[in-house]
Amino acid sequence: PPPIHTSSDSAASSADGERHAEIKWDEIGFGIVSTDFMYVMKCTKGEEFRDGSLIPYGNIELPPSAGILNYGQGVLEGLKAYRTKDGSIVLFRPEENARRIKIGAERMCMPSPSVQQFVHAIKKTVIANKRWVPPLGQGSLYIRPLLLGTGSVLGLSPSPEYMFLIYTTPVKSYHKGPLNLVIKDELYRAISGPGGTGGIKSITNYSPAYKGLNEAREEGFSDILYLDAATGKFIEEATGCNIFVVKGNIITTPEAVGTILPGITRKSIIEIAIDLGYQVEERGVPVEELLEADEVFCTGTAMVINPVFSVTYNRTKAEYKTGSETVSQKLYETLIGIQTGLVQDTRGWTLQV
Ligand code: COI
Repeated sequence: PPPIHTSSDSAASSADGERHAEIKWDEIGFGIVSTDFMYVMKCTKGEEFRDGSLIPYGNIELPPSAGILNYGQGVLEGLKAYRTKDGSIVLFRPEENARRIKIGAERMCMPSPSVQQFVHAIKKTVIANKRWVPPLGQGSLYIRPLLLGTGSVLGLSPSPEYMFLIYTTPVKSYHKGPLNLVIKDELYRAISGPGGTGGIKSITNYSPAYKGLNEAREEGFSDILYLDAATGKFIEEATGCNIFVVKGNIITTPEAVGTILPGITRKSIIEIAIDLGYQVEERGVPVEELLEADEVFCTGTAMVINPVFSVTYNRTKAEYKTGSETVSQKLYETLIGIQTGLVQDTRGWTLQV
């Protein structure tokens, strides 16, 4: 909701000499605060994207018969820009999103921007909205790229026209505090069976989960943890994040093949954990192993790393260690440190805009 906009949202000087939008930074959450510009690039089927440009943030026009509106032909991405301790603005691994959207586009029969076009467009959008990048420690600028089938279709076939659109919004954490998850084995995530779209960020993967998510929330849970649709024996992911299980020095996470989203935070955490001396295993994780873990945490762009306090499965409620002395806290500090320039980025993961 808009009340966090103050009466004037014009730029104001901040302590570090950069200009910040005049909003109540300590009141932002994970919601839409409209920023100044969005990026739009179009193409027709069989051609390549070109001539993208920044336009004022606002509504887009679509025919009622647009592929995205009728049959959900679209993929989304999510990444963040952070303000570092020296006041500069960095992106975290944007080329990974560029590669992932290409894979999603291919699965959804859509053209996609090149990696170079994608990263260039992200940079331009962030620079144009830089007054909305929160001050260090006050959140980040969430960047939402969308690839949409915008042309008219009635019969089932790919849209004749496409739009690549990027908008941004300043955000803080997605969840407040540790998660309590519930496994509902009568529900499966999106189109999560083998050959489905669980492994890409298809727009159609998310709203089918709302019904179960609402029910879980009404029962006092933060999210649903899904099991694999083929056997119902292995954990997969929660509605919008990957999951890790810690037992002693071993950190295990479901292998991101086919049905599981290959998260960029997931991938980064695996590398950081190995560097910190943990043994990391990517494989099928049976529910029993999850219930016997010492620690469990979720990862995603929006939430970064969120500890899990409990998982409820049938009549069992497993509880896990949370707090400052945990593996997830150590991983979080390293990751957020790299993202904000407090920990040296030896891997070249950050890109200055
Ligand atoms: C993200 O973590 O960026 C996502 O796209 C998940 C979304 C459900 C907020």
